Amino acid sequence: MDSLKKFKTTKLTSQDLNDFKIKLHAKYIEMLEANNNFFKFKDAEKQGKISKAELVEYKNKSIEAKKAFKTICQDKSFSENLKNITKIYNSTTRKNSSVILEQAKEELIEAKNLKREARDSVKDHGRGAQLTKLDKVAIKVENLKFKYAPDFPYALNDVSFEINDGEYVAVIGHNGSGKSTLSKMLIGVLSAQEGHVSIYGNVVTQDNLDQARKFLGIVFQNPDNQFIGSSVEADIAFGLENKRVNPKEMQKIIYDSAKKVGMENFLDKEPLNLSGGQKQRVAIASALALNPDILIFDEATSMLDPKGNREIKEIMVELRDKMKKTIISITHDMDEILNADKVIVMNGGRMVKIGKPEEVLKEKEFLRSIKLEIPFLSLVEEALGNEGIKVKHSQNMDELVKQLCK
Ligand SMILES: Nc1ncnc2c1ncn2[C@@H]1O[C@H](COP(=O)(O)OP(=O)(O)OP(=O)(O)O)[C@@H](O)[C@H]1O
Ligand SMILES: [Mg+2]
Repeated sequence: MDSLKKFKTTKLTSQDLNDFKIKLHAKYIEMLEANNNFFKFKDAEKQGKISKAELVEYKNKSIEAKKAFKTICQDKSFSENLKNITKIYNSTTRKNSSVILEQAKEELIEAKNLKREARDSVKDHGRGAQLTKLDKVAIKVENLKFKYAPDFPYALNDVSFEINDGEYVAVIGHNGSGKSTLSKMLIGVLSAQEGHVSIYGNVVTQDNLDQARKFLGIVFQNPDNQFIGSSVEADIAFGLENKRVNPKEMQKIIYDSAKKVGMENFLDKEPLNLSGGQKQRVAIASALALNPDILIFDEATSMLDPKGNREIKEIMVELRDKMKKTIISITHDMDEILNADKVIVMNGGRMVKIGKPEEVLKEKEFLRSIKLEIPFLSLVEEALGNEGIKVKHSQNMDELVKQLCK
């Protein structure tokens, strides 16, 4: 059946639907911005700061943006797509083989679904779009600059680096070196004044920020500020409800995420009855429930007791090893960098070093000069070296002890 074959080569796919959502969302944001500008400059015109002619320009821009958004909302391509296959399906007679009938039916169902989803996405302005992973670099930062105010020094000054998919990267630096500013930039709370951030090859802009964020989960420093629900279960459910996950699937997602951090037997517990480390594990489970590819930990272990600290660090390693997550850990804890594949060293807003932990740790004098402590394990290795005892770089004390006992 030729028309069915032809349809298959020209039909719209879920990729087209996704592109449609991205465009829709971009036009929606443009419209909001143009509208905001118009109202802002209306006041400015009243105060005599801009001319009437300039205001008219903003007004026209706003009208145009509204029109552009309306046009894309009325896009008929998914209806056309359905119409085409419906025609083909209706003309597919019993003379055709049952295989062809079945194929036509499948195409028809797919086209119906696409049309329904396109219509729904118009209602939520394309917010549900997914960005495609265009390459294996999870995060690329290029010449990033940021100041909190024009006459302030740069909080980030010309920072560039790449983090590959599946890598565990530790970001270290003394107080005020720019670590938190960097993490805010990565999650889009702050936007770059110069340079840019790309996530899986997508340059992050105001237009695709909502979609780019879906690749990211973040766990913050203070376990008490992250608990939103009245129980562990409610807390993990919160993000899922926001994402409008099917309630039927929610239970399983909640259980699975809790299990990944060993909290599956605490689902009905209240936050009051949890330790700091357990609260952080719930925070990780809440992030994991949304299935991000990249997890950012901003000083996530710094408020925990030694046991909680150790447990969370182990989970971070597990997330990389077992779940292939990309981990970015911003930390004061120099021991943690031993777990990392790559270490980024910040000082005064600049990235002053990037490399494997053993490469970075070789430069002890440099680290001391920018007020960073040397991990205890490295000091032991150094002291052994000074005594003529050669040891390979170990990730933890147990490994080192094993080496020495051989
Ligand atoms: N909201 C703000 N307004 C003005 N300046 C800020 C603000 N937040 C941070 N800064 C400044 O920007 C620079 C970088 O700060 P940032 O918080 O990124 O450092 P950090 O490495 O996270 O430090 P810490 O280890 O103390 O958390 C510092 O000089 C800081 O004083
Ligand atoms: Mg900070």
